[in-house]
Formats: sequence, structure tokens, C-alpha cells
Amino acid sequence: MLLGLDRLLDDLNPPQREAVTVGEGPLLVLAGAGSGKTRVIAYRIAWLTGGQSLSPRNLLAVTFTNKAAKEMARRVEALLLPAGIRAPMIATFHSMCVRVLRQHGRHIGLPAHFVIYDEDDRGSLVKESLKELEVTERAATPGSVAQRISYWKNHMLGVEDAKRQARGPWEEKLALVFGRYEERLRASGAVDFDDLLLKTVKLFEEIPEALAYYRGLWRHVLVDEYQDTNRAQYRIIRQLTAEHQNICVVGDADQSIYKWRGADIRNILDFEHDYPGTKVIKLEQNYRSTQRILSLAAAVIDHNRQRKEKTLWTENAEGDKPKLYRAWDEHEEANFVAQSILGLRGEGVPWDGIAVFYRTNAQSRVLEDALRRARVPYGIVGGVRFYERREIKDALAYARLVVNPTDDVAFRRAIQTPARGIGAATVERLREAATRAGRSLLAVAAD
Ligand SMILES: Nc1ncnc2c1ncn2[C@@H]1O[C@H](COP(=O)(O)OP(=O)(O)OP(=O)(O)O)[C@@H](O)[C@H]1O
Ligand SMILES: [Mg+2]
Repeated sequence: MLLGLDRLLDDLNPPQREAVTVGEGPLLVLAGAGSGKTRVIAYRIAWLTGGQSLSPRNLLAVTFTNKAAKEMARRVEALLLPAGIRAPMIATFHSMCVRVLRQHGRHIGLPAHFVIYDEDDRGSLVKESLKELEVTERAATPGSVAQRISYWKNHMLGVEDAKRQARGPWEEKLALVFGRYEERLRASGAVDFDDLLLKTVKLFEEIPEALAYYRGLWRHVLVDEYQDTNRAQYRIIRQLTAEHQNICVVGDADQSIYKWRGADIRNILDFEHDYPGTKVIKLEQNYRSTQRILSLAAAVIDHNRQRKEKTLWTENAEGDKPKLYRAWDEHEEANFVAQSILGLRGEGVPWDGIAVFYRTNAQSRVLEDALRRARVPYGIVGGVRFYERREIKDALAYARLVVNPTDDVAFRRAIQTPARGIGAATVERLREAATRAGRSLLAVAAD
């Protein structure tokens, strides 16, 4: 045991301590919100690498968002660095897949410098595919079709499956667009976000040596927010751990929020079946909320049908009663929020002690208007991310073309910024020529 790490366990309650220190084999930690799930993962990583002399490079921890991965790395480093141990690989599913595919993707035909198309690039590619197939129906907006394609991919359905399962001519048409989209993606030497997962599954399925390599490398795999895994993510985890079974997942079936993009609650409900001999640990003490908030949440969640029973309790204070206010419309709602904030402020609550949550970005505008009118200073968390900003994407388009001249989506962006008087008609003629010649836009333009 390394110096200092024995004190690690003092920060944990008894079930947390058990989850952190239990030996090899499958481990399922079921717990409600704010009960220390993420803490358990971080401490278990420290325990395994600091206490059990597992090399950090033999451990993989996976989270869902970059933010969560950074936060986890921060917590783990705080525990390990004082003992002089370097933190292991803490990655999102997608960044883990990028790493795997950069290293071994060539075995399944991926170009060495494959580009990754984001939602925006995907949108343009769908738009082109719709144009090429002359799909003019109103319902076929690039956004909705892109969503449909992502749905298929998230459920691990290929173009052929989509065609087979199509009900009626409209769905058949969409399946054709899907096919064209996939062809164009491949011709551009690109993959989209969903592909990162699918290609990794494919690699592990088809190239046993690659799978064996990662099974040997990552002797322990830990997954936070397991309830949000979709089918492809489940398969990757399963492939990596089926042999050594050193898998620790933590999750809360009641917090599954990604069904729309394929999250499959069965992954958590079936864990014990998939991994016989699973050790199950429940965490039921909540550290984040007052008792009244917990009771309200429990009353709502009680209506969920597929769930694993658990009851949250807390040593925290009773707290104020939650209020429910039903407004006529979004404007009245926003005004109510603004007035409530002014009321709290009057009671001496600092501005940064107040938060407003909303469900979709589109809802923020009305709220922002009301806050501005009421002279409430505010900041928005999230918003447009760096790599999604227009000027950044414009600059990147050039860099992408340098690395990969077949990247047609980047070509279209680059040719139009800065404006060169090259209009849509010219680009369209280029595209026709490129399709006829089976070459990239850049190659045809260069001739
Ligand atoms: N044993 C403990 N003693 C004191 N504080 C704790 C303990 N366990 C967790 N906490 C604190 O409770 C809060 C919630 O912990 P954590 O984020 O790990 O919970 P979680 O279950 O992952 O939450 P979520 O459901 O939001 O993912 C954190 O501030 C954490 O530091
Ligand atoms: Mg957590």
C-alpha cells in the first residue's frame, strides 16, 4: 500500500468502500443521483493502480462527455499524483474509439488519416445525397433525415437492414438516401460520430488480433453512467471484457436520458445475466440534495416501469418545499422566473447562487429576454462549442483538405469562404463532373 492511499477509504461510506475495494470480476454499482457513483469510480481507479499495483496503462475508464472525462481525470489525479502515480486513460467512448481506429483501423479498410465528420458536416452530406437522389418531399429536411440515419446507426442497422425493414415507398426512399450517404462518406475518407463506435465493433469482431491486443492492454474497464450506453457501446465493452470480466459499471436506471439516441436500458437491467457471478452493490445515501427534493424525485420516479428498486435517503436538512408553478405560456413562465430571481436576490442570495435549467437550447431566448428586461446578469453554460464556431470550421476546412484531398464536405466549405464569386451553379456543375468521373471535387476542380 502506497503512502497516503490508506486514508483514501476514510472518505467513503461502507457500501462505497466495498465497491472501491472489491477484488477482480464483474461489479455493478446501482445508485441514485448524487450518491457518490462517480466518486466510487475515481476511488476505485486510485485503489487499483495505487493499492493493488495495477499499472495505470492497463486500466481504461470511460465516460460519456468530454466534460465528465476531464472532471474524472481531475479527481483521479488529485488522489494519485501525491503518491507519484500517473493517471490512467480516462476517455469518452468516442475518443477511445478514435484512438483504437487510428492505431488499427487500416485492418478494416479505414484510411490512415480518416477525418471525422461532425453534425454539421453530416448535415451537408445528407443535403447533397437528397439532391442527388432528387428527393424533394417537404418532410425530407436534412436535419430529420440525418437524425433518421443516426437512429439506424445507433441501433446497429446497416443500409441493407434499413431497406429490408422499410415500410412503404417513403421509408424505402430514406433507406436509399442512407445508402448514398454512406457511399459519399466512404468516398471522402471520412467517418461520422456513430461510425466511430460501429467501426470499433467491426474491428474487434473481424480482427481477433486487434481485440486480443486491447483485451491484454486494458485489464480493468470501468464505465460511469452505464445506463446511457447504446447497443454499440455495450458491444465494445462486452468485447473488451468478456474474457477477463474485470468490468465495473456504475449507473442509475432511473436517470436514463438518452433513449432517443439509442441508449438501451436493458444494458443495465441485464448486466447480471450477461456477467454471471456479478457482485451488486447499492448506494442509497444521497449527499447532494435535501430530503424534500429526494422525496419529490422518488414520487415521480415511482411511475417508471423498468427499474431496479432503490430508496434514497440523506443526512442533509429537510430543506424548503419544492414549488410547482404552471404558466400560461413561455413568456409568462420566463417572467415568473425573472421575478423569482429578483425575490431571491432581495433575500440576499448572490447572483451566482441561482441557476435556471431548461430542456432545449431553443428555450433560452425567451428566458434571456425576460432576464435582460429585469436587469438580471446571467451567463449561459454550454452554448456553441469552440470547434462548432463558423470561423474555426472555415479554417479547419483548409487544414482538412491538405490532409485529405478527397474530403468533399471540406472542399465545399473552403471554396465558399472567403467569397470568390463561385456560386451554387458552378459547384453543382463540378459535382456532376465529379460524380461522372468518380473522383473528388478537388481533383476535378484542379484539372
Ligand atoms: N462518502 C461521502 N462523503 C462525503 N461526500 C460525499 C461522499 N460520497 C459522495 N460525496 C459527495 O456527493 C456529491 C455527489 O457525488 P458524485 O458526483 O460522485 O455522485 P454521483 O452519484 O456520481 O452523482 P450523479 O448521479 O449526478 O452522477 C459530490 O459532491 C461528492 O463529493
Ligand atoms: Mg456521476
